[in-house]
Amino acid sequence: MKISSTEAIALEKKFGATNYAPLEVVIAQAEGVYVEDPEGIKYMDFLSAYSAVNQGHRHPKIIDALVQQAQRVTLTSRAFYNDQLGPYEQYITSFFGYDRVLPMNTGVEAGETAVKLARRWGYRVKGIPENKARIVFVEGNFWGRTTSAISSSTDPSSFQDFGPFMPGFDIIAYDDIPALEKALAAPDVAGFMFEPIQGEAGVVVPQEGYLNAVREICTKHRVLMMADEVQTGLGRTGKRLACDHEEVRPDILILGKALSGGVLPVSAVLADDEIMLTIGPGEHGSTFGGNPLGCAVAMASLQVLKEEKLAENAEEMGNYLRSELRKIDSPLIQIIRGKGLLNAIVIEENAQVTAAQICYGFKHRGLLAKPTHGHIIRLAPPLVINKAQINQALDAIRDTFRVADTDPKAL
Ligand SMILES: Cc1ncc(COP(=O)(O)O)c(C=O)c1O
Repeated sequence: MKISSTEAIALEKKFGATNYAPLEVVIAQAEGVYVEDPEGIKYMDFLSAYSAVNQGHRHPKIIDALVQQAQRVTLTSRAFYNDQLGPYEQYITSFFGYDRVLPMNTGVEAGETAVKLARRWGYRVKGIPENKARIVFVEGNFWGRTTSAISSSTDPSSFQDFGPFMPGFDIIAYDDIPALEKALAAPDVAGFMFEPIQGEAGVVVPQEGYLNAVREICTKHRVLMMADEVQTGLGRTGKRLACDHEEVRPDILILGKALSGGVLPVSAVLADDEIMLTIGPGEHGSTFGGNPLGCAVAMASLQVLKEEKLAENAEEMGNYLRSELRKIDSPLIQIIRGKGLLNAIVIEENAQVTAAQICYGFKHRGLLAKPTHGHIIRLAPPLVINKAQINQALDAIRDTFRVADTDPKAL
């Protein structure tokens, strides 16, 4: 069925739940860093489905894996073995250097799995008394929308009027080493779950040395370091994982989004035997987790990441993008920050022009981005982007700010 942008938007507005407020653009087709609306207008995708399409839209190798596998078998459930899961498990555990993997689907399910693993380990290995285990989180965290995830959230739009909340969660300031030292010294803490760079909070990059400090403090107090790399992992920040920037190895690694190259939901939790073997048959799972289609696609997605050196490209293109963005002389820009190709333009909070208006300005110049928290614009294109394409995006960004500064009505 082919419909116009106007029709597509009208249908969503009439029949869909109202839990999203998309930018007024309809995507009907996509390839690489470009997307296209039903009328044939092309845009550069600078959101990458919140970093799920790091490998670019419809990467041929990933689509080929999808099609090949879809023609054999797609879903078996874990009631039976399938011939894709084992090879995938071997591949991903050796890719990241862990004993075992637990496959799930969405990022938030992987986060839930990590929390359950940490609690189990807390009781069975650390010796925390029954039902006393605590998990420490940080302010501004985002790991999804389930009742557990929102129980650790400090954003009222996530948790307001959705209570009562999950007990056993503590929240401390992000990037605050003394606060972490104090929180983890409590005897019943099983895990510390955090993002090495906070994505949804607006690309908040911690001070250098934070990841090392987290590792040291977790080890000292025998608390599991749980890194939520659902958004920062898989090349996005210029390394295989954001934790690699400080050569730190988390005890529990949480992955999602680009693990499937944006093709279908695939997430994973990686850990060593001491943690992973605390959960036995029938104690956790998912009908779709570990399905052969997801396994084939995830394996191809990881191969593409490695073969095409996407982390290296993210590092190089990210440095170039930030250095050019910092040359834009606009009173609207408070700061440019980020790592690799996870970047943000922070707009002055009391400015006459909002981040949403800027994003519409970008859209009119062929670039799609979405504000977060009202005044922050994330710039996170697919990692396959090249320098000419970055320059194309920079032209659109520069022109938008030029018009925003001189004649905002013309945005
Ligand atoms: C860091 C982080 N963790 C977890 C999630 C949740 O992933 P999903 O939306 O696939 O459940 C997100 C989604 O944006 C995220 O950014």
